Amino acid sequence: MYSSRRYLASKFAFIQLVLWLLCSSICFGVIKGATAEDVTVTVDGTVPISRVSDKYLCATIDWRSAPATCASDGLSPLLIRLGGTLQDAVIYDIGSTNRPCLPFTPDPSQHFGVAGGCLNMTRWDDFNDFFNQTGASVAFGLNVLYGRENNFTAGQWDPSNTQAFINYTVSKGYDMFAWELGNELDIFIPASNYARDARTFRNIVDNIYQNSPTKPLLVAPDALFHKDWYQEFLQSIGPEVINVTTYHIYNLGKPNTTNLEDRIFNATFLDQVKTTFINMSILLKPYGSSIQPWIGEAGGVVKGGSPLISGTFVNSFWYLDQLGMAATYGTQVYCRQTLIGSIYGLLNKTTHEPNPDYYGAKLWKDLMGENVISANVTENPNLRAYAHCAKNDTGSATLLLINLSNTTDFNVSLILNGSTGCQEQRLEYHLTAPDENLRSQIILLNGKALDLSPDGQLPEFIPLVENSSIPISIVHTSIVYVKLLGVSLLACTQP
Ligand SMILES: *[C@@H]1O[C@H](CO)[C@@H](O)[C@H](O)[C@H]1NC(C)=O
Ligand SMILES: *[C@@H]1O[C@H](CO)[C@@H](O)[C@H](O)[C@H]1NC(C)=O
Ligand SMILES: *[C@@H]1O[C@H](CO)[C@@H](O)[C@H](O)[C@H]1NC(C)=O
Ligand SMILES: *[C@@H]1O[C@H](CO)[C@@H](O)[C@H](O)[C@H]1NC(C)=O
Ligand SMILES: *[C@@H]1O[C@H](CO)[C@@H](O)[C@H](O)[C@H]1NC(C)=O
Ligand SMILES: *[C@@H]1O[C@H](CO)[C@@H](O)[C@H](O)[C@H]1NC(C)=O
Ligand SMILES: *[C@@H]1O[C@H](CO)[C@@H](O)[C@H](O)[C@H]1NC(C)=O
Ligand SMILES: *[C@@H]1O[C@H](CO)[C@@H](O)[C@H](O)[C@H]1NC(C)=O
Ligand SMILES: *[C@@H]1O[C@H](CO)[C@@H](O)[C@H](O)[C@H]1NC(C)=O
Ligand SMILES: *[C@@H]1O[C@H](CO)[C@@H](O)[C@H](O)[C@H]1NC(C)=O
Ligand SMILES: *[C@@H]1O[C@H](CO)[C@@H](O)[C@H](O)[C@H]1NC(C)=O
Ligand SMILES: *[C@@H]1O[C@H](CO)[C@@H](O)[C@H](O)[C@H]1NC(C)=O
Repeated sequence: MYSSRRYLASKFAFIQLVLWLLCSSICFGVIKGATAEDVTVTVDGTVPISRVSDKYLCATIDWRSAPATCASDGLSPLLIRLGGTLQDAVIYDIGSTNRPCLPFTPDPSQHFGVAGGCLNMTRWDDFNDFFNQTGASVAFGLNVLYGRENNFTAGQWDPSNTQAFINYTVSKGYDMFAWELGNELDIFIPASNYARDARTFRNIVDNIYQNSPTKPLLVAPDALFHKDWYQEFLQSIGPEVINVTTYHIYNLGKPNTTNLEDRIFNATFLDQVKTTFINMSILLKPYGSSIQPWIGEAGGVVKGGSPLISGTFVNSFWYLDQLGMAATYGTQVYCRQTLIGSIYGLLNKTTHEPNPDYYGAKLWKDLMGENVISANVTENPNLRAYAHCAKNDTGSATLLLINLSNTTDFNVSLILNGSTGCQEQRLEYHLTAPDENLRSQIILLNGKALDLSPDGQLPEFIPLVENSSIPISIVHTSIVYVKLLGVSLLACTQP
């Protein structure tokens, strides 16, 4: 795996110089019509404002998708959430079940538009081989409608099939990082009923895992955020049942929304979802750290994504901003819908090639550590700034800077509070679109297209090395990770 240290140690400075010259003419040339503006980003490195899980980056797979080996494993070890819309239609072919084990067939008369739905244990074994080979951690979404199929509202969950399934999973030694109960059912199941079923679930899991050294997290309810419902759910469930509460974010709209791009490049629009993060953190305050918030599913655009947006560089302005924003408000895990599948997959479902968001996530994984520190820019809302302690580099920090404007380039001066070191140099990773085509499925890193090698290996992520005495230059509609070298922030001295 590539590391910037190894790069620095092994390459000659003149290569960097050549790259810098090359890139400065390509990416930093004066673009006709673009204006430059000086701004200041203030980073408060005295104390972390929050801390994300080491599994912050997460991606979903629909449990029907083949356990395909991915074109590359740059995000591994990844947390994978196996679940989604059809999880509440799936039975497990073990023990006695209330209907035969049949594959999904389309059936518009049924709630999810399908009849059948069954996971046999051979297939479950295959999934686990895949997880084992890729080193993935798994959050598995269980069916909470079993037994209440005919009356979602007042019926009661029958846990017997789930119990048999978990028993099988434990007997095979398959480690689950988390078990999740139900998917997007808050509009059907009253909060107090859901809480009752979750308590049943806690007893089952405690019983099965009582002699087990590792205990999975219990997660619920994976719904869209409806404040009143979540409030009632949390109040009726209390602090000692679930470990995690999850909600889903699809804040961009429908695939056919005419102004999707205008929404993504509109800072006011992007900020609207902050109230959701804030409201969730207010609801969770009484529980201290005993219940943590996750984003269980986030795809931006609903229903599989939008062809011109979701697999292209445009989407990275939404996705990377979300990763930054969610972490700022205490979210522990952020599951992107999807790893592979539909239009919004991180990997192209046909070619298995990474799309721009995959590369953005890869850089996040390599550069952004777990402690979140505050970063503010006040002069212009079109520059978005987030900061974390650096990955694998005690004391240091990485900034994520997003320029939403299509006309303004920014020259960013940094004010670092709480630093005892001396900024020497910094590593810059500029992401831009080729030929200013933001709807491109290809992105450039420091002016050079990112692409897999013929044998499917990820490219090297070669930073520009800049002197800290000059401002950070961020061209219009670009995204930049900046890793600071030589600094020692108080918030980042504990690994
Ligand atoms: C298990 O399920 C898979 C996929 O649904 C199917 O191809 C396979 O035939 C099933 N195996 C058994 C033993 O039923
Ligand atoms: C994969 O399975 C083997 C054998 O059960 C086990 O020793 C190993 O720890 C597993 N690896 C992962 C990443 O779960
Ligand atoms: C569900 O059960 C409740 C309580 O028994 C009943 O009032 C309601 O009519 C039932 N709904 C349906 C669709 O059967
Ligand atoms: C599952 O295992 C638990 C505890 O090991 C046991 O009490 C229960 O009867 C088992 N249930 C099924 C359905 O296999
Ligand atoms: C999950 O919650 C249970 C019940 O409160 C608790 O016993 C367990 O320690 C929690 N797990 C983690 C990893 O916090
Ligand atoms: C988008 O599609 C929905 C149905 O899926 C339709 O109701 C709506 O009018 C469409 N909107 C536009 C702008 O085409
Ligand atoms: C620049 O962005 C504005 C607002 O999103 C948009 O209306 C305009 O078409 C964009 N201009 C170019 C050249 O892309
Ligand atoms: C930006 O989004 C806000 C909130 O949705 C909206 O009120 C405003 O009109 C949008 N601005 C532009 C230029 O579209
Ligand atoms: C957040 O809470 C405020 C105050 O109760 C409420 O007005 C607002 O609608 C909530 N927003 C969301 C997205 O839940
Ligand atoms: C997948 O890649 C192919 C070939 O480049 C492209 O035509 C297609 O639009 C891509 N699919 C998505 C969903 O981005
Ligand atoms: C961080 O350090 C761990 C443990 O030394 C190593 O496995 C991992 O590859 C490093 N990650 C990066 C991005 O350098
Ligand atoms: C700075 O940003 C943090 C979050 O990154 C926020 O909590 C704080 O209120 C901001 N401070 C100012 C002065 O805007």
